[in-house]
Amino acid sequence: MSTKPVNSNTPAARAWEHRAAELGDRLPGGFVVGTATSAFQIEGGAREGGRGESSWDPFTAAAGRIRDGSNASVAADHFNRVDDDVVLLRELGGDAYRFSLAWSRVQPDGRGALSRAGLAFYDRLLDGLLAAGISPMATLYHWDTPLKLRGGWLNRDTAMRFGDYAHLLGEAFGDRIDSWVTLNEPATVTLNGYALGTDAPGEARLFGALPAAHHQLLAHGLAVQGPRAADVRGEIGIANVHSPVQAASGREADEVAAALFDVLHNRMYADAVLLGRYPEPPEPYAVPLRLLLETDPEDLRTIRQPLDFYGLNYVQPSRIKAGPAPVTAQGPPRDGPAETVVAFPFHVIPFREFPVTGAGAAIAPEYLGVALGELRDRYGDDLPPVYITAGGASFPDLADKWGAVHDPARIDYLAEHLTAALAAVAPGGPAAGVTLRGYFIWSLLDSFEWTAGYTRRFGLVHVDFLDGTRTRTPKSSYRWLQKVLAAR
Ligand code: BGC
Repeated sequence: MSTKPVNSNTPAARAWEHRAAELGDRLPGGFVVGTATSAFQIEGGAREGGRGESSWDPFTAAAGRIRDGSNASVAADHFNRVDDDVVLLRELGGDAYRFSLAWSRVQPDGRGALSRAGLAFYDRLLDGLLAAGISPMATLYHWDTPLKLRGGWLNRDTAMRFGDYAHLLGEAFGDRIDSWVTLNEPATVTLNGYALGTDAPGEARLFGALPAAHHQLLAHGLAVQGPRAADVRGEIGIANVHSPVQAASGREADEVAAALFDVLHNRMYADAVLLGRYPEPPEPYAVPLRLLLETDPEDLRTIRQPLDFYGLNYVQPSRIKAGPAPVTAQGPPRDGPAETVVAFPFHVIPFREFPVTGAGAAIAPEYLGVALGELRDRYGDDLPPVYITAGGASFPDLADKWGAVHDPARIDYLAEHLTAALAAVAPGGPAAGVTLRGYFIWSLLDSFEWTAGYTRRFGLVHVDFLDGTRTRTPKSSYRWLQKVLAAR
C-alpha cells in the first residue's frame, strides 16, 4: 500500500485542491461522508473460517455467467487485509464506513448458532473501525444468500431465518454498530436474480419472481424487529435503489410500461416499507401482479416498521419503452439454451443527452435531486431522514508508468453528485424538506463487480487483481476526498 501524496505543484493539482476546499466548505456540520463496500465483492477468503457457500459461489463458477470468467474466491482479499483497509479508511478521514456482513460467514447454514470464526473476523473489523474513530454501518444482506437455504428468497422460510440471523447479530454486535441496514437493493435481487436470471441465483421467472420480493420485504420487517428486540443501540434502516422513471414517449403503451417499471423497481419496495401497502399495478398488469393486491395485511404490518433512516442508492434515471428488449441488449454473455432468455414487456432505453460512466450509466446528478424529491412527494411525513447509501461510478482507471492512478472523471462525478444532493435538499431545492444525513461513496476499493467480474472499477483505491498480494493504490479521487474532508 502506498499513501504518499502526489505532486501538488502542477496547475491541475492546484485546481482540484481548490475544488476540494470549496466542496469541503459547503458540507454542512454533522453531514456524514462515508465509503461503502460489500462482503462478497471484497472479502475473498471463500473457504476460510468455515464460511458456508452463498448463492453467488456456484453462480460465479458456472461457465459464461461472469464477463471475464473470474470469481470472488479471493476478490480484494479484504478477509486477510482488513487491518490495512482500516488504515486506508482512517487516513481518508471519512466519518463512517458501510460494509456488509456475509450471512454464510457468520451462519454457514443460514440457521443455527453463529460461527465463532465468522464473528471473530467482524469483531476485528469493528474494533479497528472504532479505534480509528469511524462509525460502522453494517448491512445484514448484500445479495449473498446462504446456499443451504433451499429456494433462496422464493421460500418464505428464508425470511424467518433472516429475522433470527438479525436478532443474533444484534446480540453479538449491538454494542458496536451505529447503523444497521437490513437489505441492500431488494429490487435488484428480485429483478436480476429471480426475474431475468442475469444475477444469482439465476432464476428467470419474470412476474413469477414477485414472491422473492415479498419474502425479502418480510425479512426486512423481521430484521428490524430482531435487533430492536436485542436492544441494539444503533439506528436501523434499509438501502433501496431508486430510479426516477420517464416514459420514452407520450404514447399510452410507453406510459403504462413506465408505470409498470416504477412499480417493479421503486414503488413496491418503498411503498411497502414506508406505507405498509403495495402500489396499485397499472391496470393491464393486475393479473400477473396480483400478489400485490392479495397480500396478507398481517405481512404488510410486519414489513412496515418504524425506521430511523431510509437509504437511497442512486445510479441513474430510467427511460422506459413498451415492448421487450431487443435481443442484443440481453446483458452479459452466457451459456445456456436460448429459451432461458426472458424479457419483460418493457425495456430501458439510453438517455443520449447525458455522458456515461465506464459501466454505461447516465451521469445525471440532477436526477439525484429528482429521486430525493420523489421520495418526499410520495412519502411525506412517513419518510424518515435519508442517507444516500451508495453513489459512485466505474471508469477504466489505469496506473500510469509511475504506478499512480489518476481518475479525474470520478472526482467530477463525486463532486457533482454531492453538490447536487446538498442543493436538492436546501431551501427552494427540488427536495427541500428532506433531512439528508449523509452520503456513502461506492466504493472504498475496486472489487468484484458481480457479473462484470473485475472489468469495472468503482474504488477510490485501486486494487491490483493480477498481483497475489492485491496491492492497494489510492487513486487521485482518494487524495481529493482527503482534502474535501480535511477542509470541513
Ligand atoms: C450495489 C453494489 C454494486 C454497485 C455498482 C451498488 O448500488 O449495491 O453491489 O457494486 O451498485 O454497480
